[in-house]
Parts: sequence; structure tokens; C-alpha cells
Amino acid sequence: MSTPFHLHNKVILVTGASSGIGKQIAISANEMGADVIITGRSKERLEETFKSLKKGNNGQLIADLQNQEELNQLVESLPELDGIVHCAGIVKPFPIKFLTQEKITETFDVNYSIQLLLMAQISRKKKLKKNASIVFSSSISAAHPHKGGALYSGSKAALESFSKVIVLEFSYLKVRSNCIASAMVKTPMYEYAQQQGTKEQMDEHVNKYPLGVGLPEDVSNAAVFLLSDASRWMTGQTITLDGGFLLGDF
Ligand SMILES: NC(=O)c1ccc[n+]([C@@H]2O[C@H](COP(=O)([O-])OP(=O)(O)OC[C@H]3O[C@@H](n4cnc5c(N)ncnc54)[C@H](OP(=O)(O)O)[C@@H]3O)[C@@H](O)[C@H]2O)c1
Repeated sequence: MSTPFHLHNKVILVTGASSGIGKQIAISANEMGADVIITGRSKERLEETFKSLKKGNNGQLIADLQNQEELNQLVESLPELDGIVHCAGIVKPFPIKFLTQEKITETFDVNYSIQLLLMAQISRKKKLKKNASIVFSSSISAAHPHKGGALYSGSKAALESFSKVIVLEFSYLKVRSNCIASAMVKTPMYEYAQQQGTKEQMDEHVNKYPLGVGLPEDVSNAAVFLLSDASRWMTGQTITLDGGFLLGDF
């Protein structure tokens, strides 16, 4: 039986592939048949991800995407792409009274501007194939903000809006663009969030998930679907992955 649920003959770029969700998406996409090009800032951790890729013609490139020169070099070295998964991101919660221009710029640069500049450069260099699929890492906090989330929630809401602009502007190529809005997923970012509060606060939060908090594989399975032809009529959407968290008390 033939199935569209695979990534054979696709070349996929994954940013933030040196850690957490991006790392797992690179591995899962490769397992499903894609040639994967991975990028991140940490040489050691990107190499670790690269070693986990079992087959195909894969590539890795160290780049700090806040550095326009390194971003340009990355794009210059890319082949034409069937898919891009944007996983680079940071979370730095601050109450409103502690916000400064510097803090705003830092989060919006990494969580929003990088994605725009990468797509702009990829478009200028004509590196997007017809029917390519773009996937953004959003968060449930885009639509359900939390205290201290002015920067993170705002940057993810902006990203969801950008995803829809891509659908409109790249319709001539039939490029699709979708977001995955995850709740808490166990990655180094999760460990960081854990350190920001008390153990009691974290336990209280985690106990609100009927299915428990997510694992990187839970997100990578959805990303593989969005990259594959199985989702070929799906665009401009956001898939929420929350283990039931948003349903409320249980
Ligand atoms: N974990 C969660 O609970 C959760 C929930 C919802 C959404 N998300 C989103 O999912 C994405 C991945 O999260 P994660 O949990 O996997 O985070 P993570 O483990 O902290 O990984 C973040 C990745 O972003 C890369 N990165 C950060 N700044 C960069 C820069 N200037 N240039 C290039 N790469 C940069 C990091 O590279 P280096 O490590 O090499 O510096 C790393 O690979 C993020 O966008 C996050 O907002 C996460």
C-alpha cells in the first residue's frame, strides 16, 4: 500500500537542532526518509545530533542566526528545500515592570526576527521548492498568555501571524506553512523553566496535564506529519499539543 506518511526524497532544514525539540525533529524526519540539514550554535551538541542521523545525505552548519553574516552563509550553502522547521527559540520570563528595550530585543530577535530574516534570505536566494512545507515552533502561550510572558507569548503570537503571511505571499509556489503550539515539553528549556519557580509551583503545573507533560517525540511526530504530503491540504493552521492541559481541571 502506498502512503503519504513519509519524507522520502525531501530535503529538510531544521534550526535549533542542537537541542530538545529541534534535535528530535531532525532525527525523526531522517528516520522517515528525509535528508536533513541541521543548524544550531553549539558545535558539540550539533555534532551529537548529526551522529544520531542514521541514513541519507545530511549536512550540519554552525550558525548564530542573530548574526546576519552567519545566517547568509547558512542560506548560501543550502540546496533547494522541501521543508523548513524553525525550532530556534528562547524563553526569558519577566514581569512587566522589569521589561527593558534590551530584554524585548533579545527575545523578539531570537523568537521572531531570526525566522523572518531566514525566510527572507531563503526567498531571495530561491531556495524554496514548489509545495515546500514550513513549520514554526509556537506555544500555547501565544493564545493563552501567562504572567511574566509578555515577551515569550508576544513573540509566539507574532510568529503565528507570520506563518499566515507566508501562505499568502508564497501561494505562487503552493508553499504551506503551519505552527505547532506546544504546552510544556521536557527539554533543556523545560529544565530552565523549572529553575525559575519552586518545585511546588512546577508540580502544581505538571499535575494539570491529563496526559502528563510532553516529550520531544510528541512534537516531532506532528512535525513529520506537517512536512509530509499527508498534510498537503493543510496550511495557515496551528496544531495544539497540550496533553489535555487547556481543558482545565480534571
Ligand atoms: N520545551 C517547551 O516546553 C516548549 C513549549 C512550546 C514551544 N517551545 C518552542 O520550541 C522550540 C524549541 O524549544 P526547546 O524546548 O527544544 O528549546 P532548547 O532545548 O532550549 O533549544 C533551543 C534551540 O534554539 C537554538 N538557538 C537559540 N538561540 C539561537 C540563535 N541565536 N541562533 C541559532 N540558534 C539558536 C539553540 O541552539 P544552541 O543550544 O546551539 O545555542 C537550541 O538548539 C522553541 O522555539 C520553543 O520556544 C518549546
